[in-house]
Amino acid sequence: MKSTKAIVGAGVLASMLMLSSSVFAQTVGFSQIGSESGWRAAETTLTQQQAKERGIDLKFADAQQKQENQIKALRSFIAQGVDAILLAPVVATGWDSVLEEAKEADIPVILLDRMVDSSDDLYLTAVGSDLVHEGNVAGQWLVDELGGKDCNVVELQGTTGSSPAIDRKNGFEQAIKGHDNIKLIRSQTGDFTRTKGKEVMESFLKAEDGGKNICALYAHNDDMAVGAIQAIKEAGLKPGEDILVVSIDAVPDIFQAMAAGEANATVELTPNMAGPAFDALAAYTKDGTMPPKFIQTESKLYTKDDDPMKVYEEKKDLGY
Ligand code: AHR
Repeated sequence: MKSTKAIVGAGVLASMLMLSSSVFAQTVGFSQIGSESGWRAAETTLTQQQAKERGIDLKFADAQQKQENQIKALRSFIAQGVDAILLAPVVATGWDSVLEEAKEADIPVILLDRMVDSSDDLYLTAVGSDLVHEGNVAGQWLVDELGGKDCNVVELQGTTGSSPAIDRKNGFEQAIKGHDNIKLIRSQTGDFTRTKGKEVMESFLKAEDGGKNICALYAHNDDMAVGAIQAIKEAGLKPGEDILVVSIDAVPDIFQAMAAGEANATVELTPNMAGPAFDALAAYTKDGTMPPKFIQTESKLYTKDDDPMKVYEEKKDLGY
């Protein structure tokens, strides 16, 4: 026969579980940009996983790279009376009105991975990396790698008007400033996609004597770098040797390229932005704990000396 103590203990545990699930069982709207990159796809997968693990009902809306679709999705989440909204904003400007509507409806908004130009009282918190720092780390890697050697660099920018495209460019330029051996000779958007990265790199190669005048590529994400690597190979040059390749994200494919000697360095951006976002939301929902306005994730540099195939396997287990 069970002791009274055990029965009481089980009862307390059951009511604690019920209480915690009633506090945290929430409906959260997630307005995602689209699936332009391997990193973005992993972020979507991990957000869905994190929501499931926490018993959150996640309403997912894919904006297909359009801000107008994100604004529509946010208005629809507000009309449905969700408990909170996750927003990965495609561009930085143009969010004030819809964020004010969410605030008036008392629905906290959490930004994921990209920033907005709006006042920070219009969102609860933002989870992301220091995007300027990422560009800086990439630029500093190149400065160190070259050791004073002359180098013409081409740059593949992310989506025009997005905070990572603006900040990663600035951060890189800050790092190479004052190093007269390094010249940024061409810079164009590749929209964070593999296809556009390849296409734009092809035009850079053509314009620069078949690539002979290019010493390094800086790509704002790995997917564009992978597309560009293909273009460099098709032009008869060796990526990673004839043209150094440095990029951002640390997705599995770039480690395969590194293992093959075709890429040189990448700066990691974690795709698990949702974990810290849901933790902050849970604390806020429970007792009104205000999170910091910016929850910063790590930006680690990887090079070919970091056992790329081992990292590739580890990354593959993460949700990519
Ligand atoms: O906002 C983060 C960036 O968006 C990632 O670096 C890129 O891959 C994605 O598309």
